[in-house]
Amino acid sequence: MEEKILYHLRKDYSKISLDTEHLNKDPFVQFGEWFDNALSQESQEANAMILSTSSISGKPSSRVVLLKSFSKQGFVFFTNYNSKKGKDIEENPNVSVLFFWPSAMRQIRIEGFAKKTSQKISENYFYSRPRESQASSALSMQSAPLEQRESFDNSVKTLAGNPGKIIKPKHWGGYNITPRTFEFWQGRIGRSHDRFLYTQENGIWKITPLYP
Ligand SMILES: Cc1cc2nc3c(=O)[nH]c(=O)nc-3n(C[C@H](O)[C@H](O)[C@H](O)COP(=O)(O)O)c2cc1C
Repeated sequence: MEEKILYHLRKDYSKISLDTEHLNKDPFVQFGEWFDNALSQESQEANAMILSTSSISGKPSSRVVLLKSFSKQGFVFFTNYNSKKGKDIEENPNVSVLFFWPSAMRQIRIEGFAKKTSQKISENYFYSRPRESQASSALSMQSAPLEQRESFDNSVKTLAGNPGKIIKPKHWGGYNITPRTFEFWQGRIGRSHDRFLYTQENGIWKITPLYP
């Protein structure tokens, strides 16, 4: 395949600037403000985040997952614990999540530790989903090779169509990410982007501006 040069793809970013004065001292509150803005501005999936994990041998991998709740306790998403990401987290709970909201030219990077949520939280979310999604999650061996697509689809259809409760498998549930650091990035004209890193010292969040 011929090399495709993308040097000319260039976009000027917003006039909005960020300064320490206007940043909330609490990164969870700052996250909430940007998230609300993204919800009103992004046409699709404002709660989509790129989750990066790493195996114990240091091989990283990334994929999109959906943020399903956040509070001072952390950031929660749901998945199959036997998936590739689940196996990575089992070996190495250090993860990174990244939000990119192009309409405001904003990025937030969060680094922290992932831990399984309680079965109760996982069940509450599982049963809030449409039956088809419950059936698919119950039957999917996420990240394992799929030999017969049609047979999987039929099993999902049959399970979803049956009356009676779909049992949430033990290997399906949530992870809560407790942040260790947050980095807020605001795109600016001329590539002088604003970046602020939040780190914790003795339970107090410290804000450090970074070079763009
Ligand atoms: C918009 C979007 C949202 C997704 N949300 C989730 C999710 O919440 N949970 C999940 O397990 N996979 C989700 N996926 C699929 C994952 O990106 C990934 O393919 C899957 O989890 C298997 O990843 P793994 O093999 O690295 O474990 C989503 C994909 C996209 C594109």
